[in-house]
Amino acid sequence: MREDEIAELLRHARVIEAPARHILFHAGEAGDSLYVLLAGKVKISLLSVEGKEAILSLLGAGDVFGEMSLLDGLPRSATVTSLEDCRLLLIGRQDFVQFLKRHADVALNLLAALSQRLRTTNNLVENLSFHHLPSRLARLLMDLGQRHGKVEPAGVEIGLRLSQEELGNLVGASRESVNKQLRAWAESGLLEYQQGIIVIKKVDALFMYAMGA
Ligand code: CMP
Repeated sequence: MREDEIAELLRHARVIEAPARHILFHAGEAGDSLYVLLAGKVKISLLSVEGKEAILSLLGAGDVFGEMSLLDGLPRSATVTSLEDCRLLLIGRQDFVQFLKRHADVALNLLAALSQRLRTTNNLVENLSFHHLPSRLARLLMDLGQRHGKVEPAGVEIGLRLSQEELGNLVGASRESVNKQLRAWAESGLLEYQQGIIVIKKVDALFMYAMGA
């Protein structure tokens, strides 16, 4: 977005703070605001009636969510929870829709972002349908490393504190199976896993697992 477009949007926005592990909204609620994540990370998930969770996506600073209800007028399609302390920009539906009508370039960017999100979801379905757990988990860690990782002397550190249960909820597996696989990889020196922080030490070896080797 251009500077003047950002300034115009900011005139209609307000900033809110959310502490870590706070539910910003639930699937099924009415939605009338768009959120821009200024700082922090959130997870987008679906919850079953028995309380099981499927995580659809993890978002970081600069990402936008809550656009679907604004665009189609239907209830929130997923639950959004902060994973760490977050600062967010909130924009109401009327202001956002009027803004999009005035700025076709921003509307096109939003369509591109939605297409990208659909591609990611297609990859998730492919992952869940066609791959075994080691490959699913390796693909997830490669993706998290690319999007949320930083290169440290010890390896690529994934900057997200996810529980083993959450890792399982991202790849459709139980906490126990994830624990077993992470321990096997830690023992072979492929990664380190301590207090929720994963450091990938052998990216090449993880890549081979991701490819199903
Ligand atoms: P909305 O339906 O308003 O509220 C939930 C939000 O989660 C939704 O808008 C999107 O911003 C986001 N969301 C829903 N499904 C996905 C998905 N598959 N991948 C990434 N983000 C999603």
